[in-house]
Amino acid sequence: MKIIKLNKKHMEKLLEIDSDCGHEGDKQGCVNGKYMKKELAERFKQKHEIFFGCKIGEELGGYVTLKPFFPGHKHCELYWLTVKRKFQNQGVGTKLVRFIEEYAKKKGFRKVCVYTGKTMKKTIHFYKKMGYEKINEFPGYYGYEMGNTTAILLAKNI
Ligand SMILES: CC(C)(COP(=O)(O)OP(=O)(O)OC[C@H]1O[C@@H](n2cnc3c(N)ncnc32)[C@H](O)[C@@H]1OP(=O)(O)O)[C@@H](O)C(=O)NCCC(=O)NCCS
Repeated sequence: MKIIKLNKKHMEKLLEIDSDCGHEGDKQGCVNGKYMKKELAERFKQKHEIFFGCKIGEELGGYVTLKPFFPGHKHCELYWLTVKRKFQNQGVGTKLVRFIEEYAKKKGFRKVCVYTGKTMKKTIHFYKKMGYEKINEFPGYYGYEMGNTTAILLAKNI
């Protein structure tokens, strides 16, 4: 497994990962299809995130993004994390999160924050296992038209 920096040339591969990850909160299909393509193109254009991927052989197995700003003293945000289904439970997510934490630490940040859906039990379990603790809950955080829109904010000192 090798971590590489990503750019917009990797967009199609990132969309493949997102549509294949089996996102627990995706009852509305928001990490799939046309909506996601537009959203991802916009994210690259905005340049608010730094994208890193995990290469497994020649294939991109997962990716993570960091927003190098967040309210609070030297806080940053782990904004996105997805792993292709066939590579899940093999340590790819762990490797990507550890990488982002090391990267953030080197840049002088002291805390990594992450939002996730309140109903995403497996994902919450994953972050807690990685040392993240719940800070608060935000009803209506997500703009979905159906389903649970409450997010929980987790954070870890690095
Ligand atoms: C959450 C996720 C990034 C974890 O990556 P991973 O490579 O599977 O994780 P690792 O192998 O490093 O760690 C294993 C842990 O991940 C969790 N996990 C495995 N598959 C998962 C899935 N489909 N969804 C959520 N968590 C999962 C398990 O709880 C496991 O912990 P356990 O061994 O105590 O059961 C990945 O499963 C995924 O992409 N899920 C769907 C998208 C998502 O929820 N992203 C986060 C949004 S904030």
